Amino acid sequence: MRTQTDKGLTLSRAREQTDALFHLVRPESLYDRPIAERHRLVFYIGHLETFDWNLIGRYALDRRSFQPEFDRLFAFGIDPPPGELPADRPADWPGLGEVERYNQRTRDEIDDVLEEVPEQLVHVAVEHRLMHAETLAYLLHNLPYGKKVAPPGPMTGPTPSGLPVPRMIEIPAGPARMGREPGEGFGWDNEFQAHTVEVPAFAISRYKTTNGEYLQFVRQGAAPPHFWVEREGDWFYRGMFAEIPLPLDWPVYATYQEAESFARWRGMRLLSEPEFHRAACAPPASGNFDFRHWDPLPVTAGERADREPVPEQMFGNGWEWTSTAFAPFPGFAPFPFYDNYSAPFFDGRHYVLKGASPRTAACFLRPSFRNWFRPSYPYLYAGFRLVAS
Ligand code: AVJ
Ligand code: FE
Repeated sequence: MRTQTDKGLTLSRAREQTDALFHLVRPESLYDRPIAERHRLVFYIGHLETFDWNLIGRYALDRRSFQPEFDRLFAFGIDPPPGELPADRPADWPGLGEVERYNQRTRDEIDDVLEEVPEQLVHVAVEHRLMHAETLAYLLHNLPYGKKVAPPGPMTGPTPSGLPVPRMIEIPAGPARMGREPGEGFGWDNEFQAHTVEVPAFAISRYKTTNGEYLQFVRQGAAPPHFWVEREGDWFYRGMFAEIPLPLDWPVYATYQEAESFARWRGMRLLSEPEFHRAACAPPASGNFDFRHWDPLPVTAGERADREPVPEQMFGNGWEWTSTAFAPFPGFAPFPFYDNYSAPFFDGRHYVLKGASPRTAACFLRPSFRNWFRPSYPYLYAGFRLVAS
């Protein structure tokens, strides 16, 4: 038995997270494509190991490929513009046995040499895998209930909190500290360089926008969010493992476009990335993040009565859309070993999200972490709050 070091331990814990996700899927569904804009599930079974192998085995340690077609086939995911959907068929992908043999070999080779791998590259492999633990959850969320098995343990259910009383919180003008310094520990290419932005005063909603608030918009004619379904005149939330009557005090999951039109309808707007930094306190030690739940909690969960009101749940219980298009910070340089992590998405067609969702690993709660997606992508665990100035 190998004794586990810090590098080995973080990697094996991340592997447990992603292995567990594939075990939720009934085997006959592993060639399904639950989200039309993404690859079939089998791609991700190969992708996680291919990524680590290409980075650690081949790039860092110059090991020889033993199955170069797989090193390419599983290298990159897809993010097509609206309307340009992939058309591959299940038979275009290799069999599970073949993928599993490849995966086992990549893990064995990596585990043999992990101690020689620079710390930064181990962080990249572990965080890449943990990001996919979340993006895989979005995929599995969209798999019909009959094709997945709920894990044992309590599921989030409606926990009536008494409807939250909305209010706005004033944030004074001042500097927002963006990004991170090289000495502050691991960050992705897009988190550098650290800099300061002056932000004018604004007011921000104490809570994330709720399903109940969004329902008023839908009753005025707006389209329902992807996570809702109407049955005989009643609205339901499509949870990870079951449908439940729409919890009115949960944050609404919505696209950027939906968030933006709701805000306009209410005479307000979405917050910018620098405003998020002004409004957020330090990331909390606990909350609805780090895989504790599959679905949200009420927007008031975790609130404390013993202090002045603050914007609640800035980390956890759903990412928050910002009005900031994803773009490089001053002095940005791509990682030489992974130059297409961020740069291809600096195209004005992706927006920054901040915070964390129920399925976001705790390491991503560092304030400099930046998430991004297309404004029409409806599958995210992401909502928003309102801002006025
Ligand atoms: C940072 C979550 C937008 O899933 O598209 C995973 C992360 N990049 N593999 C994505 C990522 C390559 C990325 N996000
Ligand atoms: Fe990936």
